[in-house]
Amino acid sequence: MAMITADPQDVPRVESFSFTPENMEKVRALIARYPADRQASAVIGCLDLAQRQAGGWLPRAAMDHVASLLDMAPIRVYEVATFYTMFHLKPRGRYLLQVCTTTPCWLRGSDAVMKTCREVTGVAPGEISADGLFTTVEVECLGACVNAPVIQVNDDFYEDLDEDSTRRLLEALRRGEMPKAGPQIDRQSSAPVGGPTTLTTIPGGAAPRE
Ligand code: FES
Repeated sequence: MAMITADPQDVPRVESFSFTPENMEKVRALIARYPADRQASAVIGCLDLAQRQAGGWLPRAAMDHVASLLDMAPIRVYEVATFYTMFHLKPRGRYLLQVCTTTPCWLRGSDAVMKTCREVTGVAPGEISADGLFTTVEVECLGACVNAPVIQVNDDFYEDLDEDSTRRLLEALRRGEMPKAGPQIDRQSSAPVGGPTTLTTIPGGAAPRE
């Protein structure tokens, strides 16, 4: 639903954008969550839909389309899109690798994770790999510190990474596979490595799940 033309600064110029019929249904559902004259409250959800439809970034035409649908001044939509780091104003690789480098992840090896991302993708942070698959960015705490270090790949968290597991993850993505998200070591969610260390028995009850 988007028409793309010239490319003056390595950013495709998208001349027009409109939601697919399926996404328009979702837009109507988003708007319906709010009072009749408060449709602008749906702006973040609509921008997220637009970004997904446009391939992971927000052309200006998409922001203008959202502004028109929500009866907002375009500048109000640009303000939202430029404020939140979840919105991208230029193209990125199919897989956005958001590497957390905040203190807990850094202490647990995020430097090696970043280095591996650079080696495997062949490009610096912020750039798109030659195969169009990857863009790596450094981000602040993703809220999964107990499983540090962490990469968010598009919508999924890959946790408890090291150099080898990061390389395996990226090579699997390159092959078109989507490895199971979550801890990349033998660990149940955020439970202690090696199994429970407290509440290992329940008086009068069943033994805890392994
Ligand atoms: S510091 Fe990396 S997830 Fe919190």
